[in-house]
Amino acid sequence: MKIFVDTANIKEIEELVSWGIIEGATTNPTLISREEGDPKDIIKKICELVKGPVSAEVVSQDAEGMIKEARELAKIDEHVVIKIPMTVEGLKAIKVLSQEGIKCNTTLVFTPMQALLAAKAGARYVSPFVGRLDDISSYGMRLIEDILTIFDNYGFNTEVIVASIRHPMHVLEAALMGAHIATIPPKVIRQLVNHPLTDIGIERFLKDWEKVKKR
Ligand code: E4P
Repeated sequence: MKIFVDTANIKEIEELVSWGIIEGATTNPTLISREEGDPKDIIKKICELVKGPVSAEVVSQDAEGMIKEARELAKIDEHVVIKIPMTVEGLKAIKVLSQEGIKCNTTLVFTPMQALLAAKAGARYVSPFVGRLDDISSYGMRLIEDILTIFDNYGFNTEVIVASIRHPMHVLEAALMGAHIATIPPKVIRQLVNHPLTDIGIERFLKDWEKVKKR
């Protein structure tokens, strides 16, 4: 499973890239709004750091507007992937853009059928939002299981990006299910590293090493 970082914060991305585990990044209008500066500069910088797929979202609601925005965003860097919302207009835009070779990530996917339609339209990625489903008492990870089954049944190349991740259990379940990608907020990536027994183990080894040094 590939790990993408779900943030537009350059400092966080710089740090996490240095760990050697980041293979892509996802942004959305909310994440970009939390950072200072020109959105295009932010996307460019993320691409330079990550050197892998970086999702940048369109905000137009009509296909024509989405396509225009997408073509501009795609010029920023070869790694830019266009995030398109899962609507009828979005499907029309995905069809045109994918035929032009511009990779699309269909966002705000909440049902397996939306994922199927996005894949048929030519989406390179679909982003089902598991946390937002959990938030309304719906089992988010079940959606991932269903989409993976459907894509496998029919041999789609579209990759599933598990999005709206809230905690390490989402990541574990995604990996057990064989999801292609998890896009994870920095806070949750940090949670994946830590274990109290690791800390206790290091402390004990260092303490014992003090005895060796006194020999
Ligand atoms: C990623 O592609 C999504 O934009 C992001 O994971 C949404 O997460 P949220 O539901 O925590 O806003």
